Amino acid sequence: MLRLEGIDVHYGATQVLWSVDMHVAQGEIVAIMGPNGSGKSTVLKAAMGLKAPSGGRVRLDGREMQSAPATERPRHGMAIVLERRRLFPRMSVHENIVLGAYARPARETRGSLDWVLGLLPDLRDHLDATAGKLSGGQQQMVAIARGLMARPRVLLMDEPFLGLSPAMVRTVSAIMRTINDEGVAILFNEQNAKLSFALSHRGYLLESGRVILSGSGQEMLDHPEVKRVYLGVREEAVR
Ligand SMILES: Nc1ncnc2c1ncn2[C@@H]1O[C@H](COP(=O)(O)OP(=O)(O)O)[C@@H](O)[C@H]1O
Ligand SMILES: [Mg+2]
Repeated sequence: MLRLEGIDVHYGATQVLWSVDMHVAQGEIVAIMGPNGSGKSTVLKAAMGLKAPSGGRVRLDGREMQSAPATERPRHGMAIVLERRRLFPRMSVHENIVLGAYARPARETRGSLDWVLGLLPDLRDHLDATAGKLSGGQQQMVAIARGLMARPRVLLMDEPFLGLSPAMVRTVSAIMRTINDEGVAILFNEQNAKLSFALSHRGYLLESGRVILSGSGQEMLDHPEVKRVYLGVREEAVR
């Protein structure tokens, strides 16, 4: 469904992504794991059109997306939940959520809101609250709700667990599974290997702007390199 082919990205003269190939099929949850600064956010920004690649292609259902600016991509079925939620803190939860529907016909808003609140029922009690007053976890749910209002077929999520308590991480993971069960494919990034690959059908390991490993979630968790470097398992314990 979503395909990145040979994506290069430069910031000024500095190249930060090197020929990145990734795809997300219908029904999948796909993780991009990698250390801080490895280029995870840049991959999502390039996919959404928030950062123009200097080389390669982004395709959605085979159609090239280069000419579609980020603001147009929701119309094609893509939405992004940015890192640190990026809500409008002085606006209400309801206002923040409904903003996500800007690319849809107005007559759909009510139905989309019902669908979204069905998936995130805890938000019903907070619709009139000021978004900036909510806890980090609740704000993440608002950000997810806003993304879902675009009725995406593929949802991009930049570090959805950043700064959340362990209990909230479990809640957001469960929400991601539910969204996926509703037919929405998810591409998310995360620095923690266990969290990334336990939740995903497939994953990629990014290092210094290059995909160095890919496979099913279980394959990634079982891979000696992932175990050694990212799960802190010592060599002798692996053998
Ligand atoms: N706006 C920017 N201008 C210049 N360099 C950037 C910018 N955003 C990110 N970078 C650099 O690009 C690299 C990848 O960053 P990023 O995609 O944010 O990594 P990650 O999300 O994995 O932490 C890093 O070296 C970072 O410093
Ligand atoms: Mg990042």
